[in-house]
Amino acid sequence: MPGFEIFGDEERKEVQDVLDTGVLSRYGFDGVRKGHWKARTFESELANRVGSGYSHLCSSGTAALCVALAACGIGAGDEVIIPPFTFIATVEAVILAGAVPVFGEIDETLCLDPGSIASVMTPRTKAVLPVHMCGAMARIEEIKNLCRQKGLMLIEDACQSLGATFNGKALGTFGNMGCFSFDSVKTITCGEGGAVVTDDKELYSLADAFADHGHDHIGNDRGLEDHPILGTNFRICELNAAVGLAQLRKLDFILEKQRAHKKAIKDALAAFPEIGFRTLPDPEGDSATFLSFFLPDEAKARETAKSLGEAGVDGCFYWFDNNWHYLRQWHHLKKFRSVARLPVQLFDHCPDYEKIEVPKSDGIMGRTLSMLIKLSWTPEELSRRIEKMADVFKKMGDG
Ligand SMILES: Cc1ncc(COP(=O)(O)O)c(C=O)c1O
Repeated sequence: MPGFEIFGDEERKEVQDVLDTGVLSRYGFDGVRKGHWKARTFESELANRVGSGYSHLCSSGTAALCVALAACGIGAGDEVIIPPFTFIATVEAVILAGAVPVFGEIDETLCLDPGSIASVMTPRTKAVLPVHMCGAMARIEEIKNLCRQKGLMLIEDACQSLGATFNGKALGTFGNMGCFSFDSVKTITCGEGGAVVTDDKELYSLADAFADHGHDHIGNDRGLEDHPILGTNFRICELNAAVGLAQLRKLDFILEKQRAHKKAIKDALAAFPEIGFRTLPDPEGDSATFLSFFLPDEAKARETAKSLGEAGVDGCFYWFDNNWHYLRQWHHLKKFRSVARLPVQLFDHCPDYEKIEVPKSDGIMGRTLSMLIKLSWTPEELSRRIEKMADVFKKMGDG
């Protein structure tokens, strides 16, 4: 997910435009901004790129999730079904909305298993929030159909999957709202930033207002704007938007490079029958930020992670032991350790997260490794990496 690897004159020029005006705010100051509207331009190019009616930039992917939940009317006590494999931000956003995270299972897509949704649904369920993890897709059509049948809102966390598609349609555009992140390690980055996208004008207007203290953004005089709703400040700064705009214009280049690098490694690993690969409902739509693969069992996965590290194959993740991305290690959630008493604790229907069991997900995550795909690998570095990996797997096969 390495947009930062290719910063260049394009990003510098966009930032310089902003500095030349002195206007860091995305709103107002029409007379002195010399026609530069970086956030607005980024929004319109992003909406165009993913094929959604509307897009609104936020200060982070987490902020985008908070905005989407608020705009979709998710609030106190509502249950939101999420997967147990995601960055902790998804869980935090649901909790900050005053809602209750309810965990489904994942399947071998490494994303929410549509088959697990019915078993955790209750009359309080208001939304399903699947996460397109590691650059590729959940079984999003199945999840969408289920939400439609059950009358649930669908919010997609596509923070890790900008540029990925399912059957030609961008991830993030299947649900009522989709969320992206442009933080420092994402496919495209602007340091800190995020976006919501939607086809629904009403949801867009609510998101646009909620992220800026409820301003209605009507007219040219910010001082005269009305505030029909309460909101907060999740605004992006023009400097961040400027970097993001230049990066968005490089997305095709990034995807092409990632896909070529991933294919070379995956093709080489196909020679080792003990390795399986993540299920991709539409392989062509994979943004290829990661190569995720399965070992026969947990012991082999741990051993392989260690051997790859010792062989100098960097950028490999064993998520099962990682305390940012998988429920098993979220002890702060399980003990409700936070700075304040969380609304979720006040509800009788809040699950005891210490007792939540996700056996199917444990079985999959215990044997999963993911390797980050870099843009900057030279052909020689790529070949050396493949050789080192092949060595590790050959020894494992011999052993
Ligand atoms: C799946 C997922 N959701 C949400 C976020 C939050 O994005 P941000 O870091 O921009 O707040 C991330 C960031 O890593 C993520 O990976």
